[in-house]
Formats: sequence, C-alpha cells, structure tokens
Amino acid sequence: MKKIVVAYSGGLDTSVIIKWLQTKYQAEIIAFTADVGQRENPALLEKKALQTGAKKFYFVDLKDEFINNYIFPSLKGSALYEGKYPLATALSRPLIAKNMVEVAKKENADAFAHGCTGKGNDQVRFELAFKNLAPEKEIIAPVREWEFKSREEEIAYAKKHNIPVSVTKKKPYSIDWNLWGISIECGVLEDPWHEPPEDAYQITQNPENAPSKPEYIEIEFCEGIPVGINGRHVNGLKLISMLNEIGGKHGVGRIDMIENRLVGIKSREIYEAPAAVILHTAHSELEKLILERELLHFKTIVSQKYSELIYYGYWFSDFRICLEKFINETQKYVTGTVRIKLFKGQCTVVGRKSPFSLYEEKLSTYTEKDIFDHRASKGFIDIYGLPLILEGRRIRKKEK
Ligand code: ARG
Repeated sequence: MKKIVVAYSGGLDTSVIIKWLQTKYQAEIIAFTADVGQRENPALLEKKALQTGAKKFYFVDLKDEFINNYIFPSLKGSALYEGKYPLATALSRPLIAKNMVEVAKKENADAFAHGCTGKGNDQVRFELAFKNLAPEKEIIAPVREWEFKSREEEIAYAKKHNIPVSVTKKKPYSIDWNLWGISIECGVLEDPWHEPPEDAYQITQNPENAPSKPEYIEIEFCEGIPVGINGRHVNGLKLISMLNEIGGKHGVGRIDMIENRLVGIKSREIYEAPAAVILHTAHSELEKLILERELLHFKTIVSQKYSELIYYGYWFSDFRICLEKFINETQKYVTGTVRIKLFKGQCTVVGRKSPFSLYEEKLSTYTEKDIFDHRASKGFIDIYGLPLILEGRRIRKKEK
C-alpha cells in the first residue's frame, strides 16, 4: 500500500485530493499543513482532514523558520520579482516542501501530492524541492490529471463522498495567505482593465478611507535584519505582525501587477504585503546610506537574479546559495534606523541614520563647513574623460 504525504490547506481542492488519492491508489494519506501565519484553526483543519479520510494530520508551526531562513534572506537580497512582488507565496513553497520531506522520511511514505494546477508556478516550486531533497519519492499532482472539468463537478464529488464543503457563497478569488503577504487572483481580477474590487483585499484599508493623519514609525536594522520598532527590540514574528497591522490600517502594501509566470503565461495578480513593503522600503534606503556606490549598483543586478531564482523554484540551488553568501557579506554594515511616514497608502522614507554610514556632511555640504578639495576635480576630469577626448578627436579627423 502506498503512503502519500499531501500538502493540505483545508480548501476544496486538497480535501477532494485526499479522497481521490485514497480511492485511486488505495493509499494511506498523511495530510500536512504548515503554519506560515495564514490564520487557520488547526483543530478544525485536523477534524476536517481526518473526516475526509486522512490517516494522520500534521500541523507544523514553521513561522520562525520561514522568517529566519526564507523571509529575512529575501529581504537582505532585496528580492522583489519584476521589481514589485515580495515573493510571499514563492518563498513558502520550498519551506513547506522541505518539511514535507522530513515528515515523509519519518513516516516512511513513498509519495508527495500537492493541489497546484498545471499552469502555475507553485507546482514547479514544490516539485523542484521534492526532486532535490528526496528524488526517490514519487510526486503526484492530482489537479493536473483528474477528471473534474469544473468546480461544480468537484463539489458534486465532495458531496457524494461526504467531504465537508464550506462553500456557502461562491468564493470569487483564489487566495494564498502567509505572514509575508497575501496573493489574490481569479474572478474579475482576470480582466487586467478591471480595478480590483474592495472585497478582493483582505488586510489593507482602502487608502481613501485610511486615517487622515500620518503615522511615523522607526525601524531598526542590525546587519540587514530588522530588529526593532520605535526604539523597542522585538522578534521577527512580532515585528512583521505589527507592520502588517499598522501598514494595513494606512492602506500601505497593495500591489496590482501583471507578472510573467515561469510557464510563459502573463497573469494579473493582486498582493497585499504591508510589512514586506515597509521593510523593503526601509532596508533599501538604509543600504543607500551605507553601501559604496559600485557595490550598491552591482547588488541591484544580483537582487534581480536572486528574485528570479526564488520565483522560479530554484531555492535549493547552488546558484541561489552562492548569491546568498554574496548578499550576506554586503550586509555586515547595514545597521541603523530608518524613519517612515505612513499616510493614505504611501510609505515614505523621511529619515535614515547609521553608525556605519558613508554619508559625510562635511563632503556634501555647500556651506563653509565644506572640506572637499574642489581643485582636485580638474585632474580627475582630465584623466576620467581621456577616452572621450580621444574619441572626439577621431570623429573630427574622419569628418575632414
Ligand atoms: N503569482 C504568485 C506566485 O507565483 C502567487 C501564486 C499563488 N496565488 C494564488 N492566488 N493562489 O508566486
């Protein structure tokens, strides 16, 4: 008999998957749910999973591992896919897969199953992680191969097999929720011309209705990692939760984008990520004060590649790990504080300071405090401009 570890969310698809796998393979099913901050009730999930036919249910709190080993490395790497998406869903997949592998080894299971469709990125992220970490185990993706052609057919199957279906009113969106952000797609959002309706947003206030008084916050970083808010040291979970709350209240963190999926499709996705937007804004600003110009410019190239690797499911690759080493080295002086103003959907940096700043007022000032040697610039420009001087001479020679 097969033993299959299923990535279980408690939604319709993964519930039907439990029954479907059990019937098709005569398999023993182990349902696995990761707590990545999606605000689910584990007791209810367990009840549902077991009632649906799972032999065992795991609910594992991965919040700290998510923050320390996935979210913060992505923040240090300024990982924003296509310049905007903080990668909340993408970061959670390798983490969930890695923990499913551990459960599969412990339980001596032969296979993994997930509820991703055949046209998204998540199937790739899960499966590349499984293949990298446990290549001997089989991977089953029921949604890619089963017979149901519509949600209605799935619901009918669920009813027939006594699977508790909680679809009272048709859920118009597909939502993936974790600490670092919420990904929302489907329904009217599939029309890229259609403004997202208010009910698409889960945790952010409409900026129009946000408080009419700005709120200032100060975020403290130590070697690229956020460690405090408003002068108080707090752990990562507390900090991210507080920023989601405060940012959400001010309508900060809404992202509406067309993105390029790995499978070649362009899709319209809405994200809500108040903490991620605030922390990325603050962190990049601090780097501007601290990193030397060429390093700062080069790091933006690294960040683009780094975010692509995360998006593409290459989390466990040597390539990403090598870039992570480079990124960590860049962060050794990224310590300091950034002051942010939150107001009606905007997150604006209004102050920054660091004991390791390369900013020297004596050099940048235009007052009598100035210590910069203006005369030295003449020689600098002569030599720096030499290639251009030579080229200028040549073009005039040809024109003659
Ligand atoms: N497009 C995002 C990504 O590939 C999110 C995918 C999951 N989205 C969802 N609404 N279920 O990372």
